[in-house]
Amino acid sequence: MTVIIKMMNETLNENTYREIEAYTLSQMAKLENSNHNDEHVVRVKNNALKILTLLGIEGQVDKNLLKAICLLHDFTYTVKKPGMYTYIFEGQIEKRIVQPVLTKFEISDETKKIIISAVSQHAHSFPFRKLNKRHNIYAKVLQDADTLDFFDCLRIKNYMERNNRSIIGKIKNKIGGRMIVYGLQNLGSFLNYPVLAKSFFADSSMKCIS
Ligand SMILES: [Fe+2]
Ligand SMILES: [Fe+2]
Repeated sequence: MTVIIKMMNETLNENTYREIEAYTLSQMAKLENSNHNDEHVVRVKNNALKILTLLGIEGQVDKNLLKAICLLHDFTYTVKKPGMYTYIFEGQIEKRIVQPVLTKFEISDETKKIIISAVSQHAHSFPFRKLNKRHNIYAKVLQDADTLDFFDCLRIKNYMERNNRSIIGKIKNKIGGRMIVYGLQNLGSFLNYPVLAKSFFADSSMKCIS
C-alpha cells in the first residue's frame, strides 16, 4: 500500500505529457522499421491502457506517466539501427539515450527515475522470459504492452509483406511464423501478468495466427 501511494505521487501533468508525446512521435515517425516506429509506440501505449482496464488497476498508476513511458520505450532506434548489437544491449543504450531527452521537459527527479527504470528494462520478454515481475507496475505494464504488440496482426502483416519480397525474407517469415505460433501457445509465460494471455485478445481480431 505504501508503495502504491508513493508511486502515485510521481506524476506527469497534461502539458508535459503533451510535449513529450509531440517530441517523441515526431522523432519516431522518421523511422522506417515498422517494428520500432511511431505506430508501434502508439499501439504499445494503447495496449498499456487496455491492460489497466483488464486488470482493474487504473487507480494504481498515473496514466500520463505510463503513456509517456510507452511512447519513449524504443527511443533507442532514433539513434541506433536495428541489429544484433542494438537488440542485445537495448536496455543500456535506451538508458543512455533517454536521460538527456528527459532534461528537455519539466519532470521531477523521482519521475525521471521511474521512466528510466521502466524503459531500460522492457526488452527480452519474448522469447527469453526476462520478465519484470519484481519491478514496479510501470515496468511490468510497459513490458507486457510491448510483448503483446509482437502478436499484433498489423505488425505481423507488415513484417511478412516486407519479407516476402526476397528469398531470405521468405525464410525469415517461415521462422517468424513458427515463433509467433509458439509465442501465442505459451503467451502467459512471456507476461508479467499471465492472466492477460486469456483476456487480451479475447474481444478482438488482433490474434491473427494460431
Ligand atoms: Fe524495444
Ligand atoms: Fe517496443
